[in-house]
Amino acid sequence: MSNTETAPTSGVTYWDYIQLDQLLSLQSPRTTAHDEPLFIMVHQTFELWFRLAIYELRGAIAALESGNIQQGIVLLKRVGVILRTAHAGFDPLMTMTQNGYAEFRDALRPASGFQSSQFRVMEILLGIRQVPSADDSAKEQFHWEVVAAQAGETFVNFMARYQQELQAIYDQARSNNLRTLMLRLTEEGTSKTGVDAYRYLGSHRSELPELAALADAGRDLQTALLDFRLSHHKVTVFTIGDAAGTSDAHTPVHSSCAGYLLNVIKEQSTIFPELEAGM
Ligand code: HEM
Repeated sequence: MSNTETAPTSGVTYWDYIQLDQLLSLQSPRTTAHDEPLFIMVHQTFELWFRLAIYELRGAIAALESGNIQQGIVLLKRVGVILRTAHAGFDPLMTMTQNGYAEFRDALRPASGFQSSQFRVMEILLGIRQVPSADDSAKEQFHWEVVAAQAGETFVNFMARYQQELQAIYDQARSNNLRTLMLRLTEEGTSKTGVDAYRYLGSHRSELPELAALADAGRDLQTALLDFRLSHHKVTVFTIGDAAGTSDAHTPVHSSCAGYLLNVIKEQSTIFPELEAGM
């Protein structure tokens, strides 16, 4: 029986179908501060969009793996739209003042968006994130381990909860993450390797329209992720500030959270380095 044939014969209500009661029972502020529900619900909304983005990204990767480039492009474009839609969630947070955030900020420690496992899964599937393990060399580690090890709990309790899961996803995605797949397909289609493959594609777009559209969709997704990081940085500057010592968890290495986040923007914004160098 196919998935489309599994619908039950009896009808369903709106509230049961989307499990509205359960969804609306998931907001539990830790303080009475007026702005805390805003903070919780915006994060929850982001996590739901991330969930959908991961689902579609996995679909895109599966399509590309099986050689269905058209379907891969359709789904990659959808991931970009999802991230841009999610990104609008930063706007309500921009209406929160530093004082508004300060009213409940201490009640959240040491939690941090840094511990968003779904964000890490997206990074792994895109091909820009590795998971630390005992036999990896230092440079093979999450770059934020170095930072967070000094901060302690934020990193330690995240790894205790997620390392195994992320390692399994990483092992599976090692050879078929988006960056690797796109490069492999471009190399096959152009009979060139690395940067040269994209360079060739750039000057032969009309002869290789499908691969060119794939590269464009990948680039668009890269921009959508960068937009997320830039807006996130803006929100943190507005709600925490950018002075030294303002980091929630990483003060020992970066003088401020904004400094840490800017560093991530510099290091993690390019998903497709060969494409950027070639096209
Ligand atoms: C008032 C709003 C927000 C503030 C003040 C804030 C603050 C921060 C800070 C300071 C960090 C750096 C890590 C740390 O020092 O703990 C961080 C990281 C992060 N935050 Fe937020 N954040 C906000 C909203 C959001 C939202 C809505 C999301 C969406 C899920 C999010 C996701 C993340 C992610 C994924 C990271 C890790 C970035 C990386 O290491 O690449 N944050 N946040």
